[in-house]
Amino acid sequence: MTNTLNKELNVFIDKVKDNHGGEKFMIETHGCQMNEHDSDKIKWLMESMGFVSTEDEKEADYIIINTCSVRHSAEDKVIGRLGRLKHLKKTKKDLRVGVCGCMMQRKVSRDFVLEKFPFVDLIFGTNNIYRLPQLILASDEDNDVHVEIEESYSNLDNKLRTNITNNQSAYINIMYGCNNFCTYCIVPYTRGREVSRELEDILDEAKALVEDGVKEIILLGQNVNSYGKSLDNPISFAELLRALHEIEGLERINYMTSHPKDISDDLINCYKDLPKLANYLHLPVQSGSNRVLKLMNRHYTREDYFEIIDKVRKIRPDIALSTDIMVGFPDETEEDFLDTLDLVKRVEYDNAFTFLYSKREGTRAYDMENQIPKEVKSERFNRLLETVYGIQNKKNQKLVGTEQMVLIEGQSKNNPEKMTGRTDTFKLVHMPYDESKIGTMVKVRIQSANTFSLEGDLIDIEK
Ligand code: 5AD
Ligand code: SF4
Repeated sequence: MTNTLNKELNVFIDKVKDNHGGEKFMIETHGCQMNEHDSDKIKWLMESMGFVSTEDEKEADYIIINTCSVRHSAEDKVIGRLGRLKHLKKTKKDLRVGVCGCMMQRKVSRDFVLEKFPFVDLIFGTNNIYRLPQLILASDEDNDVHVEIEESYSNLDNKLRTNITNNQSAYINIMYGCNNFCTYCIVPYTRGREVSRELEDILDEAKALVEDGVKEIILLGQNVNSYGKSLDNPISFAELLRALHEIEGLERINYMTSHPKDISDDLINCYKDLPKLANYLHLPVQSGSNRVLKLMNRHYTREDYFEIIDKVRKIRPDIALSTDIMVGFPDETEEDFLDTLDLVKRVEYDNAFTFLYSKREGTRAYDMENQIPKEVKSERFNRLLETVYGIQNKKNQKLVGTEQMVLIEGQSKNNPEKMTGRTDTFKLVHMPYDESKIGTMVKVRIQSANTFSLEGDLIDIEK
């Protein structure tokens, strides 16, 4: 894709290329799709600066860790990794280490890294990716740590592109940050307040991606339903979807994540009007108990949630639904938990991401009374998982014998004789390998199913 960065940034990129062209870099990504997409941007920037990607840390001249802070365990993983890098840095004096992402946006975590891991060379925030060339140049001059953090998103980042590595599907950020302040969540403190990108910028990016061969676009935002509200010319998420739908050559539109409190009828109607809108909705519920939902500051009840699901299913009866669910929120009783299990059984999710509540300093839930003991959380978590997997398996079995349109992603990582793809309902399908079909949409007959994936054969359309 063409380089649309502004001239000033290109000057820095060229300077880094002179100093580092041909050197190797490695990026490690923790956390969500937002981080994966940020890492794609960093990769694109590093390659623009002449660095070559490697998966082998021993040959890397630059190692960049993109961190997550949603749960305590995610931060622990990064700290463990930095501990190991300390030894590598001792044996490889010229190695440069960069740490970025949500954890660096949190002052407590950043200070911890600065104090315990003084060998780290670069620290930058989620809103400073475009400053990487300048940071690398500064780091060339001395052995000090160079830190750049901005509280809120800067428009310059708009111009950062990604390389199309798997060319059938690409992410586009439509907004950054979150204004919701769910009481358990650190994101509003790390990624800052909600900022939407201009419609024109999103459309330009989507068109350029489709010209490069992309078939599916996945729109990213912490709460896509409130997209566009703060723009000078306000526009709704549904209007954005309708505009994207017009792009010729784009075959499928997906998005994440939605907040139930903001789902409009206009958006629900898009499932009727826009055939390119994937038959899949990820709608985090978090808990099935009204009491817990209130403590979480979610602004909807389980009844509101059922109502949304009913409306969507009326329009698209076979839509796949997925969710995020948390167990062990402070003061969650067995009765509250049973409400969650009941909701899961009634909605019958195709997929659910399940989490053990993790206490995050700085959030409102951190100081709440009646934090739930670890053993109780784990026991509830296991029961939840059993229920979720049982439903998932049952729903996948129902697809055996059906025909599905599948967007082929590439060769299977575990079995070279197979390729993988995703149905319109975002289910993973394994099929016999056929190189000519990679990146295309094909018709597949599902032959068998398990809890996590489907197996199928291509249907020869010529016959
Ligand atoms: N503990 C556990 N899970 C969390 N999530 C967000 N914050 C926490 C936390 N403190 C989960 C929510 C959210 C998903 C991305 O991560 O379910 O939807
Ligand atoms: Fe966190 Fe709630 Fe915002 Fe999602 S909507 S990012 S859970 S504060």
